[in-house]
Amino acid sequence: MTKRILFVDDDAKLVGIYARVLQSESNHWEARSATSGNQALEMMNAAPFDVVITDLRMPGMSGAELIAAVRDQHPRTSRIILSGIADQEEVARCLGTTHQFVPKPVDMETLLSTVSRICGLDNFLMDEKLKALVGRMDALPSFPSLYMEVMSELAAPEPSITRIAEIVARDPAMTAQMLHMVNSAAFGLARKISNPLEAIQHLGTGTVRSLVLSVHVFSSFDQTVKGFSIEQFGEHALRCATLARAITESQGAEPAVAEDTYIAGMLHDIGKLMLANSLPDKFQATVAYSVAHQLPLCAAETEVFGATHAGVGAYLLGLWGLPAPIVEAVAFHHTPGSSDLRTFQPLTAVHVADVLEGEKSKLSRPMPLSGLDVEYLTAVKVQNQLGAWRKLAQKMTS
Ligand SMILES: [Fe+2]
Ligand SMILES: [Fe+2]
Repeated sequence: MTKRILFVDDDAKLVGIYARVLQSESNHWEARSATSGNQALEMMNAAPFDVVITDLRMPGMSGAELIAAVRDQHPRTSRIILSGIADQEEVARCLGTTHQFVPKPVDMETLLSTVSRICGLDNFLMDEKLKALVGRMDALPSFPSLYMEVMSELAAPEPSITRIAEIVARDPAMTAQMLHMVNSAAFGLARKISNPLEAIQHLGTGTVRSLVLSVHVFSSFDQTVKGFSIEQFGEHALRCATLARAITESQGAEPAVAEDTYIAGMLHDIGKLMLANSLPDKFQATVAYSVAHQLPLCAAETEVFGATHAGVGAYLLGLWGLPAPIVEAVAFHHTPGSSDLRTFQPLTAVHVADVLEGEKSKLSRPMPLSGLDVEYLTAVKVQNQLGAWRKLAQKMTS
């Protein structure tokens, strides 16, 4: 299937080069260029594009404004921003509307791999069986508007942690559940946290942002799903997120990457909640089938549903427009080798953390675990870190 890609930059020569390089790379890509935000929107209204890649600094409509307009008018289009080191403040303001950032000066290899990655993810999410399965689910969690409000406060010229705390505190159920999580053993805090402001001061805005999103997702579901322990589910998510973030930090990754990893760790199994809630009998039967046949749950799900909990979860997060590294980590957490990614990513950390955390709590788990994808970890060149990561897991859960 051909993917239509639109480049936007006020430098007509540059944008022409990008489009030509991309066009020559694959028969499946059709690249076009625009030299202003307005022209880009006109072109998109005339015929839809799958991906839009824009420069941040342009006269007239800025890249950030264009990306926000694309999100509102063409939500299915993937949005990439090209940004320089000096643009960090602007970039922070676009976190909620952008799928991916590519640093400037652009090296063509990074650009090509980013586009192919976005297109690969798009193809995965467009799978007919997956779409049909999600279509059969009656109650999907609603759009996380409180999370988006927190994101837009973080994007304000002078974000205030008091205002973020106020946004969270407006929702008492959210506040109660967030504090319950923060005060659980997994956080290992020395003293009890009693309000959202304290939570932000102790844990940072990044963690609180992740918690707001996770609490929203978890609380969208019936807390008493037959044959499914929500509590155990939440504990696994939290431990996995914490370990995955520690693994990412041990690789010297940027704080923003560590936070994406944390969110992905929290949400990696939400597809299970979606299946258990919408199709409870069938999901229970699938779990029983996987136990009886000693099959990893994903394999049993593929047989029964034609798609897996990983796919279903990623589909939902993709619909919400969360950043590509988060959606990828959820989509491929059991099968990282089936993604096109061969560098260290949130996906790598979530895959490893999920397996290590699962090994640790094997006894409480009915279904057989899927193991580490050693071939993938070798390709990412992190196989010799496994010993250190196991120790990290041991230290965290002991
Ligand atoms: Fe999973
Ligand atoms: Fe898991």
